[in-house]
Amino acid sequence: MKYADIQMNHKSQTQNMPLIAPSLLSANFLHLADECQMLNESEADWFHLDVMDGRFVPNISFGMNIIKQLRPTTEKVFDVHLMILEPGKYVQDFKDAGADILTVHYEACIHLHRNIQQIKSLGMQAGVAINPHTRVELLRDILPEIDVVCLMSVNPGFGGQSFIPQTLEKIRVLRRMINDLKISTKIEVDGGVTLDNAKEIIDAGSDILVAGNAVFKSADPKQTIHQLKFL
Ligand code: DX5
Ligand code: ZN
Repeated sequence: MKYADIQMNHKSQTQNMPLIAPSLLSANFLHLADECQMLNESEADWFHLDVMDGRFVPNISFGMNIIKQLRPTTEKVFDVHLMILEPGKYVQDFKDAGADILTVHYEACIHLHRNIQQIKSLGMQAGVAINPHTRVELLRDILPEIDVVCLMSVNPGFGGQSFIPQTLEKIRVLRRMINDLKISTKIEVDGGVTLDNAKEIIDAGSDILVAGNAVFKSADPKQTIHQLKFL
């Protein structure tokens, strides 16, 4: 392949193809090693790992110990979504467990700027998630510091909920903010993503799709990941 072709391919990839981050919250926990192997054989880009504390959200999932045990099963990126209060207390623990991207909630951080610096100082990428009721405009001053904005398209706490349609406008507004600032912050959409709505989510300006039920409850998860990526 000629150099120019490689460049073209690279360009078309970065412009059109979303990153796919299956959420292991919907995986079969009795067969977690098999689920990891399936993801390794698939075109999934990231492992999305949802940590819940029963306080910030009305559900409890898993913590750093499970993530640490999963770490040797894959070389793919660990995208850890903390739905917990006082996340600053646990930044080092999640670094030690193997997180590559650590996402905290805007609504859970009194000192968001400090938490972002904490995450970056340990060599991880910093993500900030916002709940469906939180305006994207509130991120304007901190946006250049953020590597990934995770727009929650359901109320956090559970897999298998329906996509909140107002999220599409939030994606468009955030995309304009990022373009105006000429920064490379990525937009991730989390909750209720399916094969039916993924294209409009990407067209609105999202870079990363999180998908739990749509992947793990489908008849052929690898094929579903492929379809999400090449819509
Ligand atoms: C919800 C979690 C999501 C969830 C997505 O609180 O943050 O990552 O697992 O699951 P689906 O794709 O089934 O809505
Ligand atoms: Zn999540």
